Amino acid sequence: MKVTDPKVLLIAGGSGSIGSAIAHLALDQGWKVAVHGRSEDKVHALVAGLSDEGVIEGFITDIWEDDAAETLIAEVAEHYGRIDAVIDCTATGPLGITGLFPDTSPEAFTDFLDVSVGWFERLAHAAYGFLAQEGGTLIAFVSDAGIFAARRQTLIGAARAATIGFVRNLAVEAARDGIRVHAISPSFVQGSDSARRMGSERMARAANRAGLGLPGAEDIAPLALFLCGDAARKVTGQVISVNGGLNA
Ligand SMILES: NC(=O)c1ccc[n+]([C@@H]2O[C@H](COP(=O)([O-])OP(=O)(O)OC[C@H]3O[C@@H](n4cnc5c(N)ncnc54)[C@H](OP(=O)(O)O)[C@@H]3O)[C@@H](O)[C@H]2O)c1
Repeated sequence: MKVTDPKVLLIAGGSGSIGSAIAHLALDQGWKVAVHGRSEDKVHALVAGLSDEGVIEGFITDIWEDDAAETLIAEVAEHYGRIDAVIDCTATGPLGITGLFPDTSPEAFTDFLDVSVGWFERLAHAAYGFLAQEGGTLIAFVSDAGIFAARRQTLIGAARAATIGFVRNLAVEAARDGIRVHAISPSFVQGSDSARRMGSERMARAANRAGLGLPGAEDIAPLALFLCGDAARKVTGQVISVNGGLNA
């Protein structure tokens, strides 16, 4: 469904696997898109590949820099004059985070916790005033480990559960300002960088357990944009897994 007037969607971490799929579909649906990432080359390649002049623009910020969220939001708002939805796909990768607990790294956990909930909180805080203007949407990406307990997922589960707590509590409060807040929870995503890091054997085992087949990024993008659209205007505070039937 096309959006009625050209609304502006910021995809933080948008140069990655899932963010790129959302950017493609958002342009098809008539959104103006601000795509953010750390590596200039990746962001520019994505923007050049989509290349609809005036409707997609790249923004480069390292989220560990001081005031990164405020800077990013200010730049997007200055460029487009409004922000109607923010989807955060930023990820740091599972190194030191997954595995049996004694083998995990406390330093890696501190970073992962910050990218999962600290960065999202800072982004939400910076974007709040813009989203409140016309009733906008904020979406965090989490992972099934935050919902379903499993071995080797203790740290991911803890960080993602924190994000889910933030999303659900903020949703209740921000509804009064017309802002909707959700979390989307993938598990194993075919074709993603994360899938490549996990290796084909682990992906094949997961695929065997997922009755609907594992999703690709293109199976997740429509849900993200549905939640940002008018058809979902009375829906907030939801945490939705897209996992092909792996967990329920
Ligand atoms: N793919 C999966 O299998 C899977 C499963 C469960 C949950 N998830 C979650 O879903 C979300 C999207 O996943 P994805 O597969 O699309 O991730 P991805 O392909 O790894 O993309 C991550 C994005 O974050 C950016 N980023 C990382 N560190 C950054 C930093 N310091 N400053 C600025 N940007 C930074 C990357 O930019 P650069 O490349 O330039 O660094 C990239 O745009 C993440 O929250 C992920 O944890 C994914």
